Amino acid sequence: MHSIDMDLVEMTLDVMKYAIDRISNVTPELGAPKKEADLLRIVGETVTPSGIGGEAAFKLFRDVLVKATVPIDHPRHLAFVPAAPTRAAIMFDLVTSASSIHGAYWMEGGGGIFCENQAMKWLVSLTGMPKGTFGVFTSGGTAANLSAIVAAREEWRSRDEAHIREKGLLITSDASHSSVHSMAKVIDADMLMIHCEGDNLTGKELQATINKLDEKDRNRLFAVVATGGTTNAGIIDELHGIADVCEKENVWFHIDAAYGGGALAARSVRHLFNGIERADSVTIDPHKWLFSPYDCGAVIYKDMELAKNAHSQKGSYLEIFKDEGAHGFNPSEYQIQLTRRVRGMPLWFSLAMHGTDKYRVAIERGIELAQIAAKKIEDRPYLELVRPPSLSVVLYRRKGWTPDQYREWTYKNHRDGVALVTPTKWKTNDEYETVSRFCFINPDTTEKDIDAILDTME
Ligand SMILES: Cc1ncc(COP(=O)(O)O)c(C=O)c1O
Repeated sequence: MHSIDMDLVEMTLDVMKYAIDRISNVTPELGAPKKEADLLRIVGETVTPSGIGGEAAFKLFRDVLVKATVPIDHPRHLAFVPAAPTRAAIMFDLVTSASSIHGAYWMEGGGGIFCENQAMKWLVSLTGMPKGTFGVFTSGGTAANLSAIVAAREEWRSRDEAHIREKGLLITSDASHSSVHSMAKVIDADMLMIHCEGDNLTGKELQATINKLDEKDRNRLFAVVATGGTTNAGIIDELHGIADVCEKENVWFHIDAAYGGGALAARSVRHLFNGIERADSVTIDPHKWLFSPYDCGAVIYKDMELAKNAHSQKGSYLEIFKDEGAHGFNPSEYQIQLTRRVRGMPLWFSLAMHGTDKYRVAIERGIELAQIAAKKIEDRPYLELVRPPSLSVVLYRRKGWTPDQYREWTYKNHRDGVALVTPTKWKTNDEYETVSRFCFINPDTTEKDIDAILDTME
């Protein structure tokens, strides 16, 4: 299994050929899932005592299984938060795997962690956070949010021994991402949600909410989570106002910019994030709007020591890593994961190859595509905007359609290989309405693509 033989050489050539074909394919088929039982019927059992052979297994993947997936970088995949990793980043993902680097500690992963830190330096510079701010790459926004709120809670607990026996309380808005809600559950914290769907969370609303807390709850409050680009609508909370309140109330200020964070590089919208530089921690997902392959999130902290206090693992087998002789930056000490892939390396390579200016241009294009789509929607009598686009998200309605019609339209377009565009809900006058939503990430999406999708709604 670990030897080098003809089979390995042939398999390597097959894999490289596939990778080159896929990476250079600008119009991948819009695959669709099949039921597991149907896939099993087609491919049969693949894991057997004697193995089915690399060639056969690879053929099944290439000819059947990958076709039952949706290429996330398809230019007409505008659902959820899509992705569009650069070809350089994908190539370097292969290199990252081939290099077998342990990314937990500098002692083992120094050269790779150096690459990650170069990319992180740029990311941190986009936030404008003060000297000493730094971060680490995580498996995604969920892990980054979890790492940040664990650091926040530990900081709160370190203030008063009584807090160790108390359940923490976190305040966020009802438009924050589901992962914030889930991660509060994971750490068994209570969560207070401020209703603001349709608008951004402001400092005034936050202050009013805090003022209403009784003394016990006020003492339990350990963090406020604002959003820098909501998933549903691209809305950015009033970061300066929220920072004022967090500073006054001495509460940890976390900003979830998992989706929107890439837009910090876009000059046209950078001002909307003013106040981000006052956060205690920030989540930004390079696998969303910074063109990295999955999976790559990032958590950034104003005070790295506080993150280290929360996350540094202890064990006799780990002591050597923290020894002077092994000295260096240890990513594992700042987030929830110990053994980790150096997942920031593909981003680093692509940044190093292309330079940050090209990133700015590609991100601006997503914002521009949202404006173009909005104009096209306004020009069609059967469509209307629900609200003006925000960042790269466009919410619009097909006049007269029921929720079932939106759903059927999604399935039909997907089945026909036209596009993947999914419905969402939007609250107007206390009622939830089903609407359609675009999220632009891929700079290769064309105006023709947008026309083709909108035309199918007529
Ligand atoms: C604002 C926001 N936060 C967090 C997440 C979760 O990120 P991930 O899926 O990388 O864990 C998402 C995902 O879309 C998001 O949009």
